[in-house]
Amino acid sequence: MIILGIETSCDETAASVVSGGRKILSSIVSSQAEIHYPYGGVVPELASRKHMESIVPVVRKAMSSAGIEQQQIEAIAVTRGPGLIGSLLVGFSFAKAYAFAMNIPWVGVNHLEGHIHSIFLEPDPPPFPFISLLASGGHTGIYLVNSYTEMELMGQTRDDAAGEAFDKVAKMLGLGYPGGKIISDLAEQGNRSKICFPRAYLEKSGFDFSFSGIKTSVSRFIQNNYSEYKEMTPDIAAGFQESVVDVLSYKLLNAAALKKCEHVSVVGGVAANNRLREKVEFDGSASGIKVHIPSVALCGDNAAMIAAAGYHSIISGGMHDLNQDVFARVIEKNG
Ligand code: KG4
Ligand code: ZN
Repeated sequence: MIILGIETSCDETAASVVSGGRKILSSIVSSQAEIHYPYGGVVPELASRKHMESIVPVVRKAMSSAGIEQQQIEAIAVTRGPGLIGSLLVGFSFAKAYAFAMNIPWVGVNHLEGHIHSIFLEPDPPPFPFISLLASGGHTGIYLVNSYTEMELMGQTRDDAAGEAFDKVAKMLGLGYPGGKIISDLAEQGNRSKICFPRAYLEKSGFDFSFSGIKTSVSRFIQNNYSEYKEMTPDIAAGFQESVVDVLSYKLLNAAALKKCEHVSVVGGVAANNRLREKVEFDGSASGIKVHIPSVALCGDNAAMIAAAGYHSIISGGMHDLNQDVFARVIEKNG
């Protein structure tokens, strides 16, 4: 089955053609970072307007790069939420209209499930059940993945998401937006042991996270060292990154031990972080756990992961009708 995936939940307009839920024929991601850069973060109204401009050219490009004609698309998968309502509506309305006009099935996909599915697009995906750490700009949580369609939330952040903490610390240090990549590049030049920021484990055996305290410690450090903190920026970045990475890796592997899973995955924008990739691989191999992390292109927001998740939803009978609507946030219970 050839599926067209569409993703417009935040500041990337993305379209992808995926065959059989596994093979990426094309994946086009048009980033709006430049538009939001002067504001230091995503401006929702600007984001939705830009999605409106980009959606048709991005979908056309996805089809031409895949070398397929409109008639060959058998179904559409589109992000339904969570995300910015105005942005989601652009992709969602486009997908509904397209599916209606072409008379093909379509399905709305949870963006978080999409990220978890990104690992199934890689050559050697983990067998079920496995534990997945999803760390992005809007969410951070640990999931027990039982099948393509059954995922149990074990714990999540009680305040900021990990990526959000990277973005906020970058802003505090005057480094610009989006902060994750800037901090991780800068951290490569710093010493991660020079400044030790606190690790927020909460209950050490639990799987909830808290990243707002680390952010406050960085802010306090800057205030207390105001005259010289600029020269210390690489060490601050490396120290901050280490405190986030330590907690993420610890909780992920603890969850694997509790559920007796030999495979784990790390997905979402923060999974592009080199130090996180290295640390989880290292800690995993020390405990005999195989770590699966998608290629960097599949960590950030993309539509291939939405098509992959949509494929499994469609083959298990989860088609949607035109009354479906988008949603801004998910209310999840820890399970
Ligand atoms: O998954 P994603 O593209 O969008 C959301 O669903 O939120 O994640 C974006 C987040 C941003 O907060 C960004 O700063 C962070 O991922 N990020 C990184 C890196 N690259 C992106 N965080 C740490 N290190 C990176 N290399
Ligand atoms: Zn995302």
